[in-house]
Amino acid sequence: MLHKPLKIYYKNVMSDVVGPEHGISSEQLNQLADKTSPLIQQLNQERKAGKVPYRNLPFDTENAEYVKELTAEFKPDCENLVVLGIGGSALGNIALQTALNPFMHNLDDKNRLSPRLFVLDNIDPPQFASFLNWIEDSLETTVFNVISKSGRTAETASQFLIIRKILIDKLGNDGLKKHLVATTDPENGTLRKIAEQDGLRCLEVPSGVGGRFSVLSHVGLFSAYMCGIDIDALLAGARDMDSRVISKDLYNNPAAILAAVNYHFYNHGKRISVMMPYSYALKDLADWYRQLWAESLGKENDLKGSKVDIGPTPLKALGTTDQHSQVQLYREGPNDKLFTFLQVNNFGNDPDIGPAPKYAPQLEYLDGKKMSTLFTSEKKATEYALLQSSRPCMNIIFDSVEAHSVGQFIYLYEVTTSIIAALFGINAYDQPAVELGKEATFALMGHKGYEQLADKVRPYSIIDDGFVV
Ligand code: PA5
Repeated sequence: MLHKPLKIYYKNVMSDVVGPEHGISSEQLNQLADKTSPLIQQLNQERKAGKVPYRNLPFDTENAEYVKELTAEFKPDCENLVVLGIGGSALGNIALQTALNPFMHNLDDKNRLSPRLFVLDNIDPPQFASFLNWIEDSLETTVFNVISKSGRTAETASQFLIIRKILIDKLGNDGLKKHLVATTDPENGTLRKIAEQDGLRCLEVPSGVGGRFSVLSHVGLFSAYMCGIDIDALLAGARDMDSRVISKDLYNNPAAILAAVNYHFYNHGKRISVMMPYSYALKDLADWYRQLWAESLGKENDLKGSKVDIGPTPLKALGTTDQHSQVQLYREGPNDKLFTFLQVNNFGNDPDIGPAPKYAPQLEYLDGKKMSTLFTSEKKATEYALLQSSRPCMNIIFDSVEAHSVGQFIYLYEVTTSIIAALFGINAYDQPAVELGKEATFALMGHKGYEQLADKVRPYSIIDDGFVV
């Protein structure tokens, strides 16, 4: 099957379109091409030296084979797959499901060929309790996949401890092994230790791959394959993108052009980067992108240790829904944003709009048109309106949303993140600022060893009545 490449369309960020104050000129882009080229070379070398392990994931066929083996074992009696995880251990799984399974997958018992998927990425008590109420009668046909690289994330650990107890109480230790799969670090961490003691089947978050770069590993592949997604096509899409993003020529490298344009606008007062899919299927990829950029690019210090406080703010908006909630601000508010539309050319299923009644001639323009014609027109109209207000707009064009194009997109954005981090001179792969909040939670929850931190946190967590209205 011939798969079409994703296309990046960047004309509408150019000065010729949005004016010199808000656009980028050809000369500026050429300068960025010169600046980016050696960085791509450097990234290619680091990758060859094994320093960027996420880049190898699309080529790791053993990963996919192991996922298929485990799926053959767990899928036959499974009607519900429940992922317990958060952040990089959840967002990719959610994004793949929304992109590649029908909107009604979980509810459509007549047509659904694979288990329902639930990704529980929060610890909201009534939400979790409601889910437990529903699932408790279906444990025999449910598989839980707990995902945590560190094994110490409080949210996932607490969910896991609840489910582990329920499974042991209701189905015994054998039931626990039959209904729980752990995805964690290959060697270290609390979850690895428990999984080994409990005799659980395990999948791996590969060494050196952070959560937000892990969707093409066991982390994302298991739930995807269990739920009927073509993971071979997903990985093939990522491999095809790899052959494009190694090019040193900015004008032939989609990741480089995305990184360079974002870098330029960040340095020219547009520090907010809005991703706006015109496709429900792609909406959760925009959530995945928010995490990828926020945790990878939001950094206090650069690689030399200088304080830089850097990072574009990634936002998500969904077309057409957010035309009716955000576009007023986007056109008339501060001109501090770069817009990236995700456009889809072929939607597959595409309802015809019904006939307009004779007494409503105002609706005749819709009569008999395809819904996709309206959807695409609204996207073009919104982009036009933004351009009239001198707001720069990028486009990423999908011929269609399928496993191959989604694999391309994921890998494209991962490599774009590495390139823009290199342009900023920062480390994309750590997240030191997330740690303090995690540790303060340990302190407030009475974790041994965090007593001193608890003393520091307490004054900030007690309500001072003098300031309550
Ligand atoms: O990208 C990351 O590293 C984070 O978002 C983690 O995925 C998230 O904090 C969950 O961590 P863990 O998988 O260790 O439970």
